[in-house]
Amino acid sequence: MTGNEVRSIFLNFFAKHGHKIVKSSPLLPANDPTLLFTNAGMNQFKDVFLGAETRDYKRATTSQKCVRAGGKHNDLDEVGKTARHHTFFEMLGNFSFGDYFKEDAIRFAWDLLVNEYKLDPKRLWFSVFAGDAEVSADDEAVELWVKAGAPRERVLKFGRKDNFWQMGETGPCGPCSEIHYYLGENPEDPAFNKAEYVNGDGDDTVEIWNLVFMQYNRQEIAPGQYKLDPLPAPSVDTGAGLERVTAVLQGVKTNYDTDLIKPIIEFVAKLAGKEYKAQTQEGFAMRVVADHARATTFSIADGIMPGNEGRNYVLRKIMRRAIYNGRENLGFNGEFFYKVCEFVIDFMKDAYPELEAQRSYIEKMVRLEEKRFGATLTVGLKKLEDLVNANKDEQTGKAILSASSLAKLYDTYGVPIDLMYVVLIQGKHSIT
Ligand code: GLY
Repeated sequence: MTGNEVRSIFLNFFAKHGHKIVKSSPLLPANDPTLLFTNAGMNQFKDVFLGAETRDYKRATTSQKCVRAGGKHNDLDEVGKTARHHTFFEMLGNFSFGDYFKEDAIRFAWDLLVNEYKLDPKRLWFSVFAGDAEVSADDEAVELWVKAGAPRERVLKFGRKDNFWQMGETGPCGPCSEIHYYLGENPEDPAFNKAEYVNGDGDDTVEIWNLVFMQYNRQEIAPGQYKLDPLPAPSVDTGAGLERVTAVLQGVKTNYDTDLIKPIIEFVAKLAGKEYKAQTQEGFAMRVVADHARATTFSIADGIMPGNEGRNYVLRKIMRRAIYNGRENLGFNGEFFYKVCEFVIDFMKDAYPELEAQRSYIEKMVRLEEKRFGATLTVGLKKLEDLVNANKDEQTGKAILSASSLAKLYDTYGVPIDLMYVVLIQGKHSIT
């Protein structure tokens, strides 16, 4: 099954069950200063959940463009290192605005996974909210999973960190129930600690879908103090990472090996005249460049520019992390990143026609940033290297740098903070 098929089967399944297929909203959140980027399918429906806006439908389904970098959900530093973190990804979701609630959300999810995608139920695990002082345990969800077909021992309870979802510090939120898929050899292996296993971020299990039972609005009542008010009507918000579901259905271990991303990696490899080998520094750099090219292309197409503040600065960091890795680890000398972004346009324009419409603008913006960063890289890297060498521990090869020496580098030589960030956050050195 191709990634495009995974997307269309999801949307058509929910359309068949009375949901309106709604277009993805842009990555630039409309009228929402609490968000840097659109980070979940529910963002465009925030006011509908809060009761401040009504639509002519009560059920919706989307494939939403998301960026999780900066802000509450920030995955930037993990990208390239793990099997499934991304800056840009597509989130499949179904939504009920005061219409159906837990029972149907759980029934739909089971039906789609087991009967449409034909996933082996023996490999599925479920988690629900264990409860705390503020919100009680979701025993109802346990019973509903069992009713849908899940063995009781496969429904586990976890705390707020894992099973309570909120889009940011404020806004709609509620207890959630995650579905995890076991990728290992033997789904009935009795030898593992199931809680740790299901909840871990290892390579053998993957969270594929999160069902949020939206019941509260989290509001700030004093600086740093929040309270939960009930929403006008209990609602449903779900999120399934398209790349993760596709990885599971294509039987590959990482999202980078799916047909949604691998062709971009192969393009980068060809451009660099190298072969993609996953477990190498070059492989890491290719994943970073491929992932960040998606985030860059889609962000610029949606009107976000690299810059020095807020979301613009986050985009600049993403672009510079890619450019730095391409030059440092893949041997690119001149501008190359814009070519990868052009490939992303060609590769994804059928699903997202806005990319083609913005082609020349995207190319221009990426080239400009590459030129600018290329110039500072040459001077700045030298200064940074001198500082690292002067502070290196002979035995470990690691430098411990004081924040004041870095501040001096910034003040005196104008070495950009994002260059320090990409060099130092490669994990080689630390800051005191
Ligand atoms: N809004 C559901 C999720 O992002 O997991």
